[in-house]
Amino acid sequence: MQMHKHEKIWLTLSSAMIIGFLLIAGYQTFALELGPPSHKETIDPQKVDETAPFDEPGVYQTGENEYEVVMTLQIFSFTPNEIEIPAGSEVTFTMTSKDVTHGFQIAGTNVNAMVMPGYIQKIKQTFNEPGEYLILCNEYCGAGHQMMSTTITVK
Ligand code: CUA
Repeated sequence: MQMHKHEKIWLTLSSAMIIGFLLIAGYQTFALELGPPSHKETIDPQKVDETAPFDEPGVYQTGENEYEVVMTLQIFSFTPNEIEIPAGSEVTFTMTSKDVTHGFQIAGTNVNAMVMPGYIQKIKQTFNEPGEYLILCNEYCGAGHQMMSTTITVK
């Protein structure tokens, strides 16, 4: 049986398109590094307490309006538990989990990340509006999951 000429043309075209899209997506992700920036750095989840910077979780000023929050997540809490920063600050959250996969969501912002044991998650957010921001774990992590929350105070 012979293929119709048009059929051949469309098959060739659609195959070329699929390959083209894959090449574009791969190029953007790997060559231009436009993929999600997570999971680049790893850590031994058994040794979080001894591994810098997680051996000293806390809020650190890194520039005039820049802060870094070094945070560990564990069932069922965030460390540090109370975060206070001045309005207008750009905050980099550097996080890892000491046990299971947790979520890190800041209500009222676009911040929504997964924090997995073995990986370091970094996410940036600028807080212009003073107020209390609720941080929630949005990955089911066990019996106390719904109690896992904390706040950031911006003043
Ligand atoms: Cu941690 Cu849910």
